[in-house]
Amino acid sequence: MTDDNVDSDAADSSTDSEYGFGPAVADTAASTSAPRIRAKRGGRGSLRRKLTSIAILVGALTAVGGGYALLAPSSGAADTAVSAADVEKGRQLYETSCITCHGANLQGVADRGPSLIGVGSASAYFQVSTGRMPAVSQGANNLRKDPKFTEDQTQWIAAYVQSVGGGVQVPAGNLRADDADLAEGGELFRLNCASCHGATAKGAPLSAGKTAPGLNEATDSQMYAAMLSGPGQMPVFSDNQVTPDQKKAIIAYVQSMKAQKDPGGASLDRVGPVTEGLVVGTVGLGLLMVTILWIGRKS
Ligand code: HEC
Ligand code: HEC
Repeated sequence: MTDDNVDSDAADSSTDSEYGFGPAVADTAASTSAPRIRAKRGGRGSLRRKLTSIAILVGALTAVGGGYALLAPSSGAADTAVSAADVEKGRQLYETSCITCHGANLQGVADRGPSLIGVGSASAYFQVSTGRMPAVSQGANNLRKDPKFTEDQTQWIAAYVQSVGGGVQVPAGNLRADDADLAEGGELFRLNCASCHGATAKGAPLSAGKTAPGLNEATDSQMYAAMLSGPGQMPVFSDNQVTPDQKKAIIAYVQSMKAQKDPGGASLDRVGPVTEGLVVGTVGLGLLMVTILWIGRKS
């Protein structure tokens, strides 16, 4: 079964740390609660046995958490390797679907659509992959909807826009930082994004009837592209303000919040990335330890 694989994989990767803690729970209160309880309850003779049981339990819980992290959806990083044939295919799609509003040379069309010169493939990728473009009508609020084009077609259109107008591009490769950078990502998110998108990235109203959408559906590439292109009311986060590594840390953080999105059971309206795991871990671990100590005392 997959569960067994996951457990042993994660256990292997965490055996080198002192208690078998993996990064998934290492900096939560759950991990520090074990020593505290030990100190309080430590009956001499069976202490070692109890400690061993607790260590095994913590290890097992960590393995489950680690396995969960390993299974989390991997990034949909954009492959920006572009060929002339791709650009040509992009041109054809542009001419059928975009030219009426953005013009034959991306220069824009009065009262229809803005110039796309200099917006780069990042903006085109963002707008088309989130279904905002092609716009259905002028003046409509272009919200996320089912994309009209496949991922490949979207890449071709983006490549065409880039080849004609230039601008910023989403880098190739993995766009999500390691779990080790989650804390930094959380800090950067609260600093740069939470004011509009909300502390849990669920979205929030802005002034003048506008809304910052929830980030639940955004892929890694879309998030990176959004930061680079600043759609609508959103500011551009240039690489000088938020470095590529910081962007990847923010993405990792948002995606980890998403992965923890109410995986069965009641929502605790997450106030942080690890709240649910923390509550479940602390309560569960506490109950288990009480049981172990009770059994130990009985025997
Ligand atoms: C019906 C007209 C219309 C069509 C068709 C259309 N667009 Fe747009 N596009 C707009 C308008 C209007 C805006 C400005 C939207 C806004 O400011 O919220 C826009 C904005 C954009 C932007 C953002 C520009 C920036 O400043 O970052 C991109 C990129 C874009 N369109 C690409 C496309 C592509 C690619 C297509 C074809 C697949 C397309 N559009 C089809 C009207 C259109
Ligand atoms: C000033 C408010 C504001 C800030 C700050 C802001 N955003 Fe946005 N963001 C918006 C708005 C408004 C939109 C919708 C734009 C549109 O639809 O044209 C948006 C859209 C997005 C989307 C697209 C969501 C989707 O599903 O289509 C992503 C992803 C995103 N933002 C990520 C971020 C990240 C990451 C940060 C922090 C680095 C951030 N935003 C900071 C206002 C903001």
